[in-house]
Amino acid sequence: MGSVRAAVLIRSPDKGPFASTRPIEIRELQLDEPGDGEVTVKIHAAGLCHSDLSVINGDRPRPVPIVLGHEAAGEITQLGAGVSGFEVGDRVVLAFVPSCGECDPCLSGRAALCEPGAVANAAGTLASGERRWGGDEGEMLHHHLGISAFAEQTIVSQLSAIKIPDDLPYDVACLFGCAVLTGVGAALNAAAIEPGHTVAVFGLGGVGLAAVMGAKLAGAGRVIAVDPVAHKRQLALELGADEVLSGASGTVEQLRALTDGGPERVIETAGSVAVLEMAYLATRRGGTTVTVGLPNPEALLSIPAATLVAEERTLKGSYLGSANPSEMLPKLFDFWRAGKLPVERLITGRLTLEEINEGFDRLASGEVIRQIIVP
Ligand SMILES: NC(=O)c1ccc[n+]([C@@H]2O[C@H](COP(=O)([O-])OP(=O)(O)OC[C@H]3O[C@@H](n4cnc5c(N)ncnc54)[C@H](O)[C@@H]3O)[C@@H](O)[C@H]2O)c1
Ligand SMILES: [Zn+2]
Ligand SMILES: [Zn+2]
Repeated sequence: MGSVRAAVLIRSPDKGPFASTRPIEIRELQLDEPGDGEVTVKIHAAGLCHSDLSVINGDRPRPVPIVLGHEAAGEITQLGAGVSGFEVGDRVVLAFVPSCGECDPCLSGRAALCEPGAVANAAGTLASGERRWGGDEGEMLHHHLGISAFAEQTIVSQLSAIKIPDDLPYDVACLFGCAVLTGVGAALNAAAIEPGHTVAVFGLGGVGLAAVMGAKLAGAGRVIAVDPVAHKRQLALELGADEVLSGASGTVEQLRALTDGGPERVIETAGSVAVLEMAYLATRRGGTTVTVGLPNPEALLSIPAATLVAEERTLKGSYLGSANPSEMLPKLFDFWRAGKLPVERLITGRLTLEEINEGFDRLASGEVIRQIIVP
């Protein structure tokens, strides 16, 4: 196919500051032709998510060199053999698990747990098991979550692509692929928030603010949003949160006092075990704590075990919004059009590919929400 500019993570873990350590290099790569069931996508917008940062800093170990980026929207420019349901020119958002539709989890409605999808994602390949990025001297690079969106063009499995409506701009559309599907899905699917529920959301990055929007969408009676960063708390209030807290020590007691025993649903999106412990301890008797954040795989959680039983508590994880993206995303697009999911509010900056290291410093410092790269 030809030469494509892409952001390549060459080293992991790298603790930064990335503006000086520069773990990501912009390189010209050779992108292959799309294989069976694969499509080439010209990327029009890609968001910087904490899960990309976690690959850089080692919290989500992945093979390097790898082309990062897993929250993206673009246009199909080429079809491989055997692709059905897509045409050149289709506008698509990409989903970060290429769910096969045929394995046991897929057949039981749990696309996020697709077995071959998980194997491919961990190995840094496409669903086919192949890699399509060639570097210098025949070196093959890895794909990130079947997407690798920090590039002018990429190749993905058709299982990763979902069409978007004509009136949805690319920069807004890309956020549906990760932050919105994950956060809103955690609220609607995993937490199963019901009208009148009191809900707390810990962490107000792209995912947590989407969970706040999801809680409102579900009809939560009261939403309490928790984050140490003041401007994120302010945005949470504008998106419908009723109260905000800073997440400092004492938050558990504050939440319990404010809600007369704790919220019925608590969603954790900070990606820290200490915060997950707070989220669990704050949850009401009989309630459900949903964890969405992805801490380092070696981090262990410590909770009083008896509370699960004697207080009939539920602690559950949610990946990919516990959703089937091709079923849920069209519904979320309709909510956006109806003004009920103002996803564009999550965008706090736009970058070029060359500015990506600095962009990840800003994400790590907590000063930004979603930054969009237009390659
Ligand atoms: N489960 C999934 O499918 C999935 C998908 C995407 C991202 N993630 C994970 O979700 C997490 C959030 O992703 P993001 O892109 O929104 O990250 P982010 O860095 O934008 O947001 C995390 C937020 O947590 C806040 N925080 C830090 N300490 C806190 C505390 N004590 N109390 C409350 N908040 C605190 C930070 O200020 C920040 O706003 C990450 O761990 C990411 O890897 C999971
Ligand atoms: Zn993500
Ligand atoms: Zn499957």
